[in-house]
Amino acid sequence: MADAFILGIESSCDETAAAVVRSGEQVISNVVYSQVATHLPYGGVVPELASREHLRAIVPVVRKALEDAGHTYESVDALAVTQGPGLAGSLLVGISYAKALAFALEKPLVPVNHLEGHIHAVLLEERQKGNHQLEFPVLALVVSGGHTHLYLAEQQAAAWTYRNIGHTRDDAAGEAFDKVAKLLALGYPGGPMIDYLARSGNPTAVNFPLSQIKHRDRRDSGTPAAQGPRFDFSYSGIKTSVLRYIETQGMKDTIEARRFALAGVQRPAPADYLANCDRRTLDLVASFQRAMVRDLVEKTLAAAREYNVATVFVTGGVAANSEVRQTFASAAASEGLPVYFPSRPLSTDNAAMIAAAAYPKFLAGRFAPDDLSAEASLPLR
Ligand code: KG4
Ligand code: ZN
Repeated sequence: MADAFILGIESSCDETAAAVVRSGEQVISNVVYSQVATHLPYGGVVPELASREHLRAIVPVVRKALEDAGHTYESVDALAVTQGPGLAGSLLVGISYAKALAFALEKPLVPVNHLEGHIHAVLLEERQKGNHQLEFPVLALVVSGGHTHLYLAEQQAAAWTYRNIGHTRDDAAGEAFDKVAKLLALGYPGGPMIDYLARSGNPTAVNFPLSQIKHRDRRDSGTPAAQGPRFDFSYSGIKTSVLRYIETQGMKDTIEARRFALAGVQRPAPADYLANCDRRTLDLVASFQRAMVRDLVEKTLAAAREYNVATVFVTGGVAANSEVRQTFASAAASEGLPVYFPSRPLSTDNAAMIAAAAYPKFLAGRFAPDDLSAEASLPLR
């Protein structure tokens, strides 16, 4: 089979991204335009602003991805675009643009589920390193700002299938990082900042218990027990615990002082935040992160044992977290279980993962229908 160069386009949330990937195994170019500066003053993604920024960025981002790859619109073999899940208005920008481009160029267009993209970020980079020998079944934890989902992933010939065996009942893990950072006036997105500040705090200072959801939870009526136990997550409670801690420890004044001090700094760096954090705040942040990481690792490894998987993937924005990586690596190693992460740039949203996930579909001829549209809650199967 000759090489296939796929141009991937991703616009599901607050990153406008395009990439060229060869045959699902080599990143030729990878361009990500982040809208962080636009959303920073609001402490979260504002959907209307996100769509507007995607509209502005999509053409130059795609052009740059082609240019960096030494390709042209004509020289790529196919296009791939994120169909969902994500913000409808944001998804539509990428989809409309990709459809028009594919039509004008008379090239096939492959629709891709964003979550499948995160899983294929791992596969892409392992293949790129020369590792073609992953053992199945694979358990994938997709942990990001919008998702905390566990999937059993199987490959039959070139086609992939997925079975969800757990998800968050409320907030996603990345959302909890972002909300806690917002409570503490630590900027947006909160995950990378908490990751950085936690290194200077004591992770055992505060005990934040996490909601335990019974594995065999029959409240999911309609789920036959034969499908096996579920491993669900819940992160809205820990956010409330952090808020209560802030109130009972009288931390409001130090938070406001930090907000005021940083408002006077143009583009504050992580070191500026660190310089404006007292010991109690650093300990709180480190303890919060420890509790989150423990819960993610314990539930994922319990699911891995229950389903007797051969390999674990951890992917999505929160997979960029240093403590997530270290704790997963050591806990999985002690159980003799191989665990793989994408590199940090491919952990967060990007289009290389979309182009990689599209490759088996391209081979199978699974192209977009003419009426392809955004699906904000697209499930992964
Ligand atoms: O995958 P992603 O880029 O977008 C979604 O699909 O949601 O993930 C973004 C999320 C944000 O919540 C962000 O705070 C979190 O990933 N994140 C992190 C880190 N880097 C990004 N969370 C913890 N530690 C990090 N180093
Ligand atoms: Zn994502």
